Amino acid sequence: MSTAPPPQFPAGFRWGVSTSAYQIEGAATEDGRGRSVWDTFAHTPGRIADGSTGDVACDHYHRHAEDVALLAGLGVSAYRFSVAWPRVQPDGSGAVNPAGLDFYERLVDDLLARGIDPVATLFHWDLPQRLEDAGGWLARDTAHRFAEYADLVAARLGDRVKLWITLNEPFIHMSLGHGTGKHAPGRTLLFDAFPAAHHQLLGHGLAVAALRARSGSPVAIANNYSPVRVVGDTGADVAAGAAYEALHNRLFTDPLLGRGYPEELGFDQTPVRAGDLDTIAAPLDVLGVNYYNPTGVRAAADDSPLPFELVPLEGYPRTAFDWPVVPDGLRELLGWLHRTYGAALPPVQITESGCAYDDAPDAEGRVPDPHRIAYLDGHLRALRAALDDGVDVRGYFVWSLLDNWEWAEGFTKRFGLVHVDFATQARTPKSSYAWLREVIAASRRGP
Ligand code: NOJ
Repeated sequence: MSTAPPPQFPAGFRWGVSTSAYQIEGAATEDGRGRSVWDTFAHTPGRIADGSTGDVACDHYHRHAEDVALLAGLGVSAYRFSVAWPRVQPDGSGAVNPAGLDFYERLVDDLLARGIDPVATLFHWDLPQRLEDAGGWLARDTAHRFAEYADLVAARLGDRVKLWITLNEPFIHMSLGHGTGKHAPGRTLLFDAFPAAHHQLLGHGLAVAALRARSGSPVAIANNYSPVRVVGDTGADVAAGAAYEALHNRLFTDPLLGRGYPEELGFDQTPVRAGDLDTIAAPLDVLGVNYYNPTGVRAAADDSPLPFELVPLEGYPRTAFDWPVVPDGLRELLGWLHRTYGAALPPVQITESGCAYDDAPDAEGRVPDPHRIAYLDGHLRALRAALDDGVDVRGYFVWSLLDNWEWAEGFTKRFGLVHVDFATQARTPKSSYAWLREVIAASRRGP
């Protein structure tokens, strides 16, 4: 880690942390909440590494006041949370659950009272199970249901949420949820999962219109990006790298920014109807960028069903998730977005950046996490370099406030600035929390 003080960011730069509903809320059957695909998936034996579920998670539903106090103590200017669709509209269509909207209203008002901008993600993968039973994101109707749900959330909170994020990482939801089956709903369609991409994007476009009709606040989407590193030097390796680039980094961004779908992937375009691409390309106020690591890619074996093979990148430190730590990948990625999309690229906010380590309390009850401090320090320097390169980045959100329920990994991966003892729900700020508080305060003070 560099010993130089962390870099300065422009006045008004947004400092935040991110969470999502199923990963922290718990209270899975309380106050009228419906079931989501993640309830079903987590309760299916063999799906989750430690056999756990999000039934209780961080119990945030009951402890939100304590968690907002932690946000205030950190000094962030924004908090990105997600609204659980099945909590506010249990079946995904029709009747609204007022208690669900009341919960998010209390949260939003509490944040505003502490001077923290509420940033609301509308879909962080927890589709109401009833909609899944009717075809889920493979069905076009789900896009319309999503816009209806966006409308009803904005009708209640549109005057107070400061930034809307329609979808979180639609690429991951398509690829792991519908392609390989590692995530809910557990479909294994590989490249036949394309309708789940198109209908998410259509839902996004329809939701943008619904949000703009109800709220004057800016609208974004949070995409996951990964710079591609070709491993190998044959023409086939380079072509595999280009194919993976198109799939991971361009499949969602090209149509959002008015270029239509990348053709080289050869997806069957049957779900794409006249007018859809215009709906999807509704202007975005902000592009949310989630960055964790680059991806190594080489040519696939002849009998592979995919046009590439993913390979571990050697020579980097690794997190507890075995992900390589490559801060410069953030600068590289932002430069790639800037060059590739030019004037069509909206202002960017980094909506997720973070790392998992096996953090545990020491004998004094403190939780030292020097690896996370080094990780964040490196990524903030890379971000500063990207700003100096001319990329318009206006915010940085750390994933995550709390150790939480990490999807298929259950409770085995700790991403928090705050340690959570899942037996007692005790929250203990880690040393990275104190470090980040100082970075934010110093950046606010200016040079
Ligand atoms: C991205 C996802 O949005 C979030 O839910 C997840 O916990 C983090 N990455 C870490 O894997």
